[in-house]
Amino acid sequence: MTNLAVVGGGVIGLSAAWRAAAKKHDVTLYDPEPARGGASWLAGGMLAPVTEAWPGEEDILRLGEESLKRWPGFARDLEKEGVTPGLAEHGTLVVAFDRADAGYLDILAGHLHSLGRTAERLTGREVKRLEPGVGSVRSGLHVPGDLAVDNRKLLDALYAACVNHRVRFVRERVEELPDAEAVVLAAGAWTGQLHPLLAGAVRPLKGEILRLKPRRGCLPPPTHTVRAVVEGRPIYLVPRGDQELVLGATQYEAGFDRAVTVRGVRELLEGAERIYPAVTEYELVESAAGLRAGSRDALPYLGVLDGSVFAATGHHRNGLLMAPVTADAVVAWLEGDEPPEGTAAASPARLHQKEHV
Ligand code: GLY
Repeated sequence: MTNLAVVGGGVIGLSAAWRAAAKKHDVTLYDPEPARGGASWLAGGMLAPVTEAWPGEEDILRLGEESLKRWPGFARDLEKEGVTPGLAEHGTLVVAFDRADAGYLDILAGHLHSLGRTAERLTGREVKRLEPGVGSVRSGLHVPGDLAVDNRKLLDALYAACVNHRVRFVRERVEELPDAEAVVLAAGAWTGQLHPLLAGAVRPLKGEILRLKPRRGCLPPPTHTVRAVVEGRPIYLVPRGDQELVLGATQYEAGFDRAVTVRGVRELLEGAERIYPAVTEYELVESAAGLRAGSRDALPYLGVLDGSVFAATGHHRNGLLMAPVTADAVVAWLEGDEPPEGTAAASPARLHQKEHV
């Protein structure tokens, strides 16, 4: 049994703490607001490695696919803890407004097929048949195997599972590494401040999201996650079981600023209205900004930093997706087992290489 300190109580820290405590390690988790407040609380919750990445990013895709495979078992294990993580299997619909978008969907479709995934190209009319509320589009791509998770239900479920396994919570921001046999650094965008190797390698990537709710008489939200690129910006609409629609997300570098800007809200709403015109009449119930943990190459830093310190950070746009494989990597390290497939490329050893950009 190892005495383990986990720094960070977002989806990564909670997942690692739960899985390690379930293996009988003695776990303390440090976070001023566990299961609240960080990027995970504001996430869209798409578990969709291919539609969230670009085919050239092979290492990210490989790790994302590896984690996606682990998601159903991860969710089942959480359910065995008596808590439901809100996993949804409604799939993704990506829509194209013009010829360039349609070319991009052809590439995505080819890539999904090469991974053995089902992906069906649809005409504009077929898109309408599948999702009648979608605006006027040229064509679409239906990806039925993509999953999504209700990020807030998931965080509550992970917190409860940690409590079940006697994880201790210290509600403080950590400035110096805790005194423990092993330390996992999972403090998201703030992790760069915790270890000299990560300084400058992990940076905040701001993202604004909105939550919308149909008012009486409005067309209900789509039944699939619907994505598109509008004016060069990727936009997604993710339906939640409670009729809410999560609309995300902007992405830019603004340091640790978490203000919601007029521009951000306008861009999101303009994009959403084009994709799903009925949202014009929806109620805007929440606007918020979070900070993703960016890495230099969009791959997380996942592995030993030095001796007893393990990095589990820099997950960029993929924190929720990569939580299961990250937690398994932490447990493999503690137990002296082989790390999961796909994690070698994410080793922090690349921080020592000059060409790491
Ligand atoms: N994965 C969604 C986002 O980062 O906006």
